[in-house]
Amino acid sequence: MKTKIVPGPVSAAAGDALIVPALEDKAPVLGAACDETLARIFASGEFKGKAQEVALIHAPAGLAAARLILAGCGKTPDLRRAFGAAARFARQRKFSDLAAWLPADLAGAEHVEAATEGVLLGDYEPDFRKSEPVSRLVSFSLSVAGDPADAEAAFARAVVLGEAQNFARDLGNEPSNVMNPTELANRARLMANQTGLEIEIIDEDRLRQLGMRSLLGVAQGSAEPPLLIIVRYLPPTENTPKDHLGLVGKAVTFDSGGISIKPADGMEKMKYDMCGGAAVLGAMQAIAALKPPVAVTAFVPAVENMVSGQAQRPGDIVKTLSGKTVEVLNTDAEGRLILNDTITYARQLGCTHLVDAATLTGSVVVALGHVYTGGYTNDPVLFDRLQAAARRQGEKIWQMPCEEEYKDALKSAFADMANIGTRWGGSITAAWFLREFADPTPWVHLDVAGTAWLDEAKAWMAKGPTGAMVRTFAELAASWR
Ligand code: BES
Ligand code: MN
Ligand code: ZN
Repeated sequence: MKTKIVPGPVSAAAGDALIVPALEDKAPVLGAACDETLARIFASGEFKGKAQEVALIHAPAGLAAARLILAGCGKTPDLRRAFGAAARFARQRKFSDLAAWLPADLAGAEHVEAATEGVLLGDYEPDFRKSEPVSRLVSFSLSVAGDPADAEAAFARAVVLGEAQNFARDLGNEPSNVMNPTELANRARLMANQTGLEIEIIDEDRLRQLGMRSLLGVAQGSAEPPLLIIVRYLPPTENTPKDHLGLVGKAVTFDSGGISIKPADGMEKMKYDMCGGAAVLGAMQAIAALKPPVAVTAFVPAVENMVSGQAQRPGDIVKTLSGKTVEVLNTDAEGRLILNDTITYARQLGCTHLVDAATLTGSVVVALGHVYTGGYTNDPVLFDRLQAAARRQGEKIWQMPCEEEYKDALKSAFADMANIGTRWGGSITAAWFLREFADPTPWVHLDVAGTAWLDEAKAWMAKGPTGAMVRTFAELAASWR
């Protein structure tokens, strides 16, 4: 999609359709001949401007655009979802050139950003392996009341963030016969080369030399070799950053459960068990463009969790890179087994702050459903900064407990720790397991098992991978002081 921000009044905005936001119970006033029509639509009660409600008007009087789309925003306007829903509405009608206009009270940077991201995210369809992909928007042009110069930076940032999130969704959308660890590394290399980031890929032999036996244990049942993908961003040299942010993302390209195999029903979804890693790579693509004043390194352990004669067995004990031993009571609790070595390695390389994203547990979905990402931390200050970044980006994180009382559940008779607790508080004991390796480095763990994938399309977003936390991670880095 071609994107541009254009000057000019609402009457000049041209295209197959023009999106205008409509607050609940408040007809938009465009200062054009169609205002009377808009007032009548609201008076009829047929359209109220509720969140993600859409109305279509042909040949709006006094406007250059062929059609007008009213994008319902609700009472507290969420332009990301409103414009996402309007863009999907336009795309489903095969409109190709979309325009949008924001009135003065909705023309601030946060609204420009949200509206633009909404269009980019709403246009996305995970259909690139279908013989007949659905129709896409060809162009999007935004104009705002007031000085477009103010909106330009926000618009450019939104395009960067929306494209980065869609890149992460592309990675998550690929089936596991395509998206194996080697392919994920190839895509990461391509992204790094295009954006000028440094990339290093640690292969199986080197992982063994380094001593990441916990990570290797998960991969040993698969014919696909494991890799640790590392992507580095360094800020412009005039800044001498003292902080070094490490972003860690779980990338199990398929999770069969291993010998502790999963039920067949729903197993096909486990291609999305790499979405934490995809989010981190998407964030790096945005970070390369936004150039924040902090060093950021992405660590993406990529493995496939399979069943074979070589697969890891329940009861196996592995020695982690940290030196701690772990008894693998359940081979399906594999995320924490690849993450602990990666977290230790990130700390060895000098990361001062760590944030990880992982589709780690079904339990977090039981607790929070598909609305909130579960957040866990050993450092309230870092958590608050991440939470603030998430709020600015319209992403939802709910803080869950992460304290020592949960540690008992991970006792092992034969090793330093077991890799599972009891049924209860499963997402918390998983987080505690990771914390044992992160402490004392400030760390936040995000369990995105419920939010990285949509089981059904929403008005503003297609079914499938969502790219959750891409924007939050980029925002965290961009707002680093
Ligand atoms: N990848 C799964 C978690 C998951 C489950 C993500 C459902 C998305 C939807 C993870 O590797 C896993 O299997 N976790 C187990 C842990 C258990 C064995 C302690 C789980 O949640 O069932
Ligand atoms: Mn698993
Ligand atoms: Zn998994």
